[in-house]
This record gives sequence, structure tokens and C-alpha cells, in this order.
Amino acid sequence: MKNIALVGFMGTGKTTVARALAERLQFKYVDLDDLIEEREAMKIVDIFKQKGEPYFRKTEKDVVCEVSAQDRMVIACGGGVVLDEENIINLKKLGVLVCLTATPAVIMERTKNYPHRPLLNVEDKEAKIAELLEKRRVYYAKADCEVDTSELSVEQVIESILQKIK
Ligand code: S3P
Repeated sequence: MKNIALVGFMGTGKTTVARALAERLQFKYVDLDDLIEEREAMKIVDIFKQKGEPYFRKTEKDVVCEVSAQDRMVIACGGGVVLDEENIINLKKLGVLVCLTATPAVIMERTKNYPHRPLLNVEDKEAKIAELLEKRRVYYAKADCEVDTSELSVEQVIESILQKIK
């Protein structure tokens, strides 16, 4: 197996699942948001605030290209990585693209106490989640397979991913 990239909306469990899956497979865990923050020496929320979303997306795209040469990784991607077609092409070249999903209510619950996601730092978070989910549906559908994490434990999500990609 080459690499596994986890995509999907904020709060669907990408980071938690990627860490646990990497450990299970003895793969390296790579988090694109961490790489962006390292590269910019700035938190994502500050990148959005000071440099704007287009700058963040450009950096995200650069980082996707930079991880392209390695093997045996589980890559946790930011929720918006799929918006750029070239990112999808590059991630699929790396390996299999798995999309994690969750219901809007679960996403709300999992994200509500965390202020580090600039796109969800808005008054009506519920409406924002619904709007972005709708806008992004077609992009997430480009993944090779999908696992709904709403009612599953991390271990169950991992089993489901391994079943689907074998
Ligand atoms: C984003 C998701 C975030 C992060 C940034 C933008 C998005 O990552 O990349 O805040 O556009 O959905 P997580 O999905 O890991 O929260």
C-alpha cells in the first residue's frame, strides 16, 4: 500500500483517525495543516486573518506538492483541500483518497468548542456548516471511497477504511 489521504469536512475526524490509522499500519502520520503552520510560522487562524484565504489555499497547494514524493503515509488533509482539482489529482497520485463524512449535527457538536477553524468562527455556525457542506458536496464526492464517522468509534472507522481500500 502506498499512502492514504483523508479528506472531508471539518469535524469529520480526519486528524484523530489519521493518527490512529498511521499507528495501526506503522505508517508516518502527516498533517497538511501542521505543515502549513510550520512553513508560515503562524497559526491557520492568523494566516486567514493576516494574509487571507487565497494565500492559505496557495500555501495548502504548495504543501500538497511537497509531500508528493514519499511513501507509507497517512495524510490528514484540511477540509478545503478538495476545492482545487490539482490537489485531488496530486493526492490521488500519492495513493488512495478516503473521504470521512458526518451529519451536520455531529459536525456542529465536534467543532463547537474549538476556535481554531477560521471558517467556522461566525455567528451562525449551523448555517455556515450547512452552506459549506452543500457547496462542497461535489468535491468530496471525488474521493475514492467514503466513511460516515457520525456513529462510529475511531477503531470502527479504521476497520471500515481498511475494508474499503483493500
Ligand atoms: C478548512 C479546514 C481546516 C483548515 C482551514 C480550512 C476548510 O482543516 O485547513 O481552517 O476549508 O474546510 P480541518 O478540516 O482539519 O479542520
